[in-house]
Amino acid sequence: QEDDFKKVISHAKEYGYVFQSSEIYDGLSAVYDYAQNGAELKKNIREYWWKAMVNLNENIVGIDAAIFMHPTTWKASGHVDAFNDPLIDNKDSKKRYRADVLIEDYVAKIEAKIEKEVAKASKRFGDTFDKKQFLATNQRVVDYQEKADAILKRMGKSLENEDLADVKSLIEELDIACPMSGSKNWTDVKQFNLMFGTKLGASAESAMDLYLRPETAQGIFVNFLNVQKTGRMKIPFGIAQTGKAFRNEIVARQFIFRMREFEQMEMQFFIRPGTQKEWYEKWKENRLKWHLSLGLGEENYRFHDHDKLAHYADAAADIEFRFPFGFKELEGIHSRTDFDLSQHEKFSGKKLQYFDPELKESYVPYVVETSIGLDRMFLAVFSNSLQEEELENNTTRTVLKLPAVLAPTKAAVLPLVKKDGLPDVAHKIIEDLKWDFNVIYDEKDAVGRRYRRQDAAGTPFCITVDHQSLEDQTVTIRHRDTMEQHRVAISEVKSIIHKEVDM
Ligand code: GAP
Repeated sequence: QEDDFKKVISHAKEYGYVFQSSEIYDGLSAVYDYAQNGAELKKNIREYWWKAMVNLNENIVGIDAAIFMHPTTWKASGHVDAFNDPLIDNKDSKKRYRADVLIEDYVAKIEAKIEKEVAKASKRFGDTFDKKQFLATNQRVVDYQEKADAILKRMGKSLENEDLADVKSLIEELDIACPMSGSKNWTDVKQFNLMFGTKLGASAESAMDLYLRPETAQGIFVNFLNVQKTGRMKIPFGIAQTGKAFRNEIVARQFIFRMREFEQMEMQFFIRPGTQKEWYEKWKENRLKWHLSLGLGEENYRFHDHDKLAHYADAAADIEFRFPFGFKELEGIHSRTDFDLSQHEKFSGKKLQYFDPELKESYVPYVVETSIGLDRMFLAVFSNSLQEEELENNTTRTVLKLPAVLAPTKAAVLPLVKKDGLPDVAHKIIEDLKWDFNVIYDEKDAVGRRYRRQDAAGTPFCITVDHQSLEDQTVTIRHRDTMEQHRVAISEVKSIIHKEVDM
């Protein structure tokens, strides 16, 4: 698993997807830059989300609020008082960790043992293997599961009750060692606020303390009435946005899974009080459908319903994805009640109510939110797509099977040789395609090597111009995933690509 993850990270660098930020200065921990291909992939994921959420839903509109917000926002939202992580230091290594993550990692190891048992049994019983029954009846697996559940439950309760001494006891009882040094010499657990502070204004006296937003959601809540009125929106309706968020995370080697500066894609759906259960279920289902539409494999997703709820929620679930390091949260769906709008009413003194023309009454709407990390989605897509394939002639190829709609470059146009007028034909094809898709030209090396390069970069089509092209205006089009090649008229190329890559 660790090796797979390392491969993902080095492939992302080698093919121009993700670089460590400020690498020439040895980088900045948990901060990353998207390179030429990464920026395109990220943009395409954002657009795929925007299209599904905003363009295809008549009752959802999109906004783009500022990162800086009035500081009272974060008092009202609860982030100043309650947006904390429980941290623990290791006395020997002097390294700092999130106590809950140490415990979750311990539980992940138990879960890995369960998966191993399942794989073993599945191999033994073949077609007759019934996973559900095995999980329910195999004593060893049942014991593992009970242990994992008990640990998470106890941790959830302790954190909810701010019983940090018990979180430390749990770490000691489980005999958890510092991942770097193996030391078990822990300090007490302390709460640490995750917001980044900064200042607005030039002079020291007049400067105002601000926070960089830790979630995009509050930019939607404070604009709720403006959007509702100017857009003449009727409940139920949603407001969506994508944008940067910042959290001073304590992280260890998680690449773009957990970053200090990251991007969220969030949607707040405003509803009548009392209908939240129904909308919460609907949005869980809708969002899972969106994920499945990308074809990364149904078996790689699961819901995780929360026992421990954030300060604003009355129900919450994660959509978890099978990352190279196991199942982890990819998206959250939260029933946030009227918590945020009521708090902003209280702190601003402004009414944030909606007059419901059918009920003929005013109320503070309830909210169901869907919130996904764009970078995390990037990692899900990228790591799932990276595959080593055994070919018939006993060689292997590295192929990045990105969904064609998301691929940064849709086609590479390759003249078979650098002479005889083939480059000119290739450039003409690019001139025609570039208005519709991101396409590139490549003439270096033998064509077989160029195919491999495009496979590894994730380009779904290669279009090869050869001598026959000069005579009959045809080219070969090669499909990345099947490696099949077809001869087609140059005039058909555009529509063939459109069919595969259009959102
Ligand atoms: N408005 C609700 C909210 O922000 P959250 O569970 O804290 O909820 C939502 O975050 C999503 O944002 C997560 O599911 C994850 O995909 C992403 N996310 C959160 N923290 C992140 C980080 N440090 N780096 C990358 N993505 C992060």
